[in-house]
Amino acid sequence: MIKTLDLARAFGSKIAVDRVSITIDQGEIYGLIGPNGAGKSTLVALLCTLVVPTSGTGTVNGFDINKESRQVRDSISLNFGGERSFYWRLNAVQNLEFFASIHGLGRNEAMAATQAVLEQMGLWADRRTPFGQFSGGMKKRLNLARALMLDRPVYLCDEPTTGTDPASALRMREVFHDLKRQGKTILLVTHNLEEVTELCDRVGMMSEGRIIHEDTPEGMRRLVRPEAIGLELADGRADLPERLLGLPFVRRVEGDGATLKVYTEAPEQDVTAVLRWLVQEGVPALQVGVIRPRLQDVFIKLVEKRDV
Ligand SMILES: Nc1ncnc2c1ncn2[C@@H]1O[C@H](COP(=O)(O)OP(=O)(O)OP(=O)(O)O)[C@@H](O)[C@H]1O
Ligand SMILES: [Mg+2]
Repeated sequence: MIKTLDLARAFGSKIAVDRVSITIDQGEIYGLIGPNGAGKSTLVALLCTLVVPTSGTGTVNGFDINKESRQVRDSISLNFGGERSFYWRLNAVQNLEFFASIHGLGRNEAMAATQAVLEQMGLWADRRTPFGQFSGGMKKRLNLARALMLDRPVYLCDEPTTGTDPASALRMREVFHDLKRQGKTILLVTHNLEEVTELCDRVGMMSEGRIIHEDTPEGMRRLVRPEAIGLELADGRADLPERLLGLPFVRRVEGDGATLKVYTEAPEQDVTAVLRWLVQEGVPALQVGVIRPRLQDVFIKLVEKRDV
């Protein structure tokens, strides 16, 4: 549904996107992550034909971004933070109805669609508030509401959830699940790595214009080896760290007695031994398990080239 081949864009001497080749299948949610300035938004701008490539090619919904920009634009719904793309003195309803009208929806259709998306984004109660008086998170929600008004095969979303409260972020995730169920293809740029872990089928990690790694969120997390076993005990026991250190494979123990991190060379193998030992010693445990690396740990390893 989205395919690029050596796609590149320079601004003067700055190469913002550097020979990026990605393929995103229909129905996939593809997460694009990477540090500030990595080139994520530029890549989105290339895909929606707002920016012209310096070199390379790409197709969206089978249409060439270099030669068929009209068809590409008709295939996508764009969601980016642009506050300038709303009329500040118009309220939410007026903004959305205007947007609907320029996209060819009739009056009744536009009204129905406006109500549906405002309700979906929890903004119905604020429908008469001028956009300029919206909070940052509300603006983000209205942005996504607007993107949802267009029924398109591809959704390009640049930081849709940044700055939204936890309940709104959850609502937005629900929206993406919904779109996926409908078979839509979604490119999701985000700095929220938990969101990526939960939502995305695959992730591309971008740094200095290049996709430096691409995998499923799970696959990516496996790039960093787990180092510890986490224990959560029913009650704190001051002597426990000391006793755990007596086990031959335990390197280090951190924690206060009730919540412990037990560092070993191979936590995935050692976890059963720890469990057995707890049972043997009659220590009641609420939770015992390998502490899995987070996507954040992989990010730091790959992008900053540091160990975590
Ligand atoms: N219109 C422009 N003119 C000049 N340089 C630009 C322009 N747009 C982007 N750049 C540069 O291209 C690089 C990539 O920017 P881009 O906005 O794509 O990064 P990003 O990955 O989206 O970052 P962020 O996470 O901060 O949103 C940056 O160095 C940026 O300064
Ligand atoms: Mg950006």
